[in-house]
Amino acid sequence: MGKSTNRIYKGVDLNKGAILEEPVTIYANADIRNKVKIGAFTYINNGTTIFYNTKVGRFCSIGKKCEIGTVDHPISWLSSSSIQYNIAEHFDYKPYCKDFPQVHYEQIEGCTIGNDVWIGSLVVIKSGVTISDGAVIGANSIVVKDVPPFAIVGGVPAKLIRYRFNKETIEKLLDIKWWNRDLEDLAGIEFNNINRAIEQLGGVKKKDKLEAIRKRIPKSIKKPIKKILKKFK
Ligand SMILES: CC(C)(COP(=O)(O)OP(=O)(O)OC[C@H]1O[C@@H](n2cnc3c(N)ncnc32)[C@H](O)[C@@H]1OP(=O)(O)O)[C@@H](O)C(=O)NCCC(=O)NCCS
Repeated sequence: MGKSTNRIYKGVDLNKGAILEEPVTIYANADIRNKVKIGAFTYINNGTTIFYNTKVGRFCSIGKKCEIGTVDHPISWLSSSSIQYNIAEHFDYKPYCKDFPQVHYEQIEGCTIGNDVWIGSLVVIKSGVTISDGAVIGANSIVVKDVPPFAIVGGVPAKLIRYRFNKETIEKLLDIKWWNRDLEDLAGIEFNNINRAIEQLGGVKKKDKLEAIRKRIPKSIKKPIKKILKKFK
């Protein structure tokens, strides 16, 4: 096996059960828990915790001191304390802790972060939440609901500020899924000209061509074609 291309800085607590798709960079004092998956070209900044079972896509930029996939304690029980359901995690007070009766607590653990997501500093994302491809989370936000693709959200709780692009452009980007390509294939793309970049990535041209052909087909021919296609389904 060759040398890892991941960059892991000092003081990072990287659980052995975490899976990193190279290259990933994790800055100082980040805490990456068990069963976390992180996609290539994603970086996690200083002091951020990625909680158990969270999936992070490719090309994501995650700011400092974020808490991603935080777990809730029970709030309708006698106590919110984990002594009721997971005493061993925090305490070792023999002889009581070892045999202390535990109640099952169904926790939702982890969340899903898509590709090309930018998360600002000091963001908290609740477990169970899905942040879709291309989304942006403003600094200091608390995200409690799913965030749609290419949405910019912010605040406590986070609300929609606007979308990065118009609907048509978002559809094209979700169709192209450029983040699944090798970095080499992205060389020379005009990154700062979204329409040109989409064109260069090629996906749209094909789709637009098909659409143009479809538009040119007279209705009288469309119906019988649909009937034939149905037979093959
Ligand atoms: C979310 C963000 C990307 C928006 O940038 P922008 O489009 O230039 O935003 P604007 O300054 O034009 O603000 C647009 C609106 O969003 C609001 N807004 C901006 N950032 C916000 C935030 N973090 N939380 C809540 N609301 C926010 C503004 O108040 C404004 O609201 P209004 O229209 O009611 O007046 C940016 O403000 C941000 O938070 N960036 C993260 C910075 C960071 O943490 N960097 C760390 C390095 S990785």
